[in-house]
Order: sequence, then C-alpha cells, then structure tokens
Amino acid sequence: MLKDLVLKNRSYRRFYQDKKLSFETLTELIDCARVTPSTVNSQALKFKPVADDETNAHVFECLNWAGLLKDWPGPEEGERPSGYIVVLCDLALGRNKYYDEGIAAQTIMLAAVEQGLGGCILGSINKEKLVFYRPCTRPRYTEGGGQAHRGRRRRQHGLLQRRKRRSLCAEALA
Ligand SMILES: Cc1cc2nc3c(=O)[nH]c(=O)nc-3n(C[C@H](O)[C@H](O)[C@H](O)COP(=O)(O)O)c2cc1C
Repeated sequence: MLKDLVLKNRSYRRFYQDKKLSFETLTELIDCARVTPSTVNSQALKFKPVADDETNAHVFECLNWAGLLKDWPGPEEGERPSGYIVVLCDLALGRNKYYDEGIAAQTIMLAAVEQGLGGCILGSINKEKLVFYRPCTRPRYTEGGGQAHRGRRRRQHGLLQRRKRRSLCAEALA
C-alpha cells in the first residue's frame, strides 16, 4: 500500500557505506522520477546517478546535514551514503522548477523505500562546487609538460565558464 511506504519513508542520515549501490538500482529509481509531472511539460529536470567512491566523496563534501543539529557535522566515514541521485535543472529548458524537484525527489524516496533502501532529500548543498566537479584523471603536473597541461586546464576552465552561463544548476539531492 502506498500509505505504508509513505509512513516507512524517513530521512536517514547514517548509512551502510559498505553496501554498494549499483547503477541499475539507481537507474530504476530514476525511471520512476523521470515520468513525474513537469511544469509546462518542460522536462527540465535531469538525473545523475552517482555510486563510485571518488564521486561519492566529492558529492558528500557539498552537502549540509541536519541544520538544526549545530554540533553534528553529518555522517562520519563508514556511515556515509553509498550513492546519490543528483537532481539537476537544465536552465536551457526552464528555471525555478521547485515543485517538479520536490515531486521527483519524493518519488525517488518512495521507490527507494519500496526496494528496502533509505535516503534523505538534501536541499542545502553547495551547488557550484557540486556541478563544476570534474574528476582529475591526469596527474596535475607532468614532467616537462607542465605548461601544456596548464594550458589545457585554462581552456577547460573557459569551457566551464561558458557552460556555467547556460547550463546545469543542481537543485536537490536524494
Ligand atoms: C526540500 C527538502 C530539503 C531538505 N534538505 C535537507 C538538507 O539539506 N539536509 C538535511 O539533513 N535534511 C534535509 N531535508 C530533510 C528534512 O530535514 C526532513 O524531512 C525532516 O527533518 C523530517 O524528517 P522525516 O523526513 O524523517 O520525517 C530536506 C527535506 C526536504 C523536503
């Protein structure tokens, strides 16, 4: 019954970090969210599944947990989420999709509960830091190639600046 799921669904803030989430599981949750109602049918929300250790660590750094608990910084290592669904708004398709985000986030939560999982909707996030993350796949400085590499970094930065004007804005996490 839907009411059972609604009652069972709570905001969890300590997790079994060692219990890995598969992309298939996250994709299944996204599959429920993607068909939720969309203001003026803009379909502006996009969903990014995250389940690898490196990106998980980055996402975690962008989150604020339980603002009312001033002396609790959030879950410690070992009790952090093993995956995330980042809900993004494509600003080329629309803005201020807060209702859409809420509907999508709660749908993800209920679908997660149905699968025996738990989560937390997080709206207090460092959006800039979250969205402009790129994993560094190369060493920062390479022998004899430092300048060229730094040049690439500058060009890449310019690209990100351009994208920033018209692209994605993270609004919510579940
Ligand atoms: C839109 C939205 C944003 C939220 N943002 C945060 C957040 O940034 N950090 C957090 O720890 N909890 C966040 N929460 C979870 C609420 O704090 C939580 O729902 C509330 O404490 C009630 O707990 P319950 O869901 O277990 O009933 C958010 C909830 C909603 C609906």
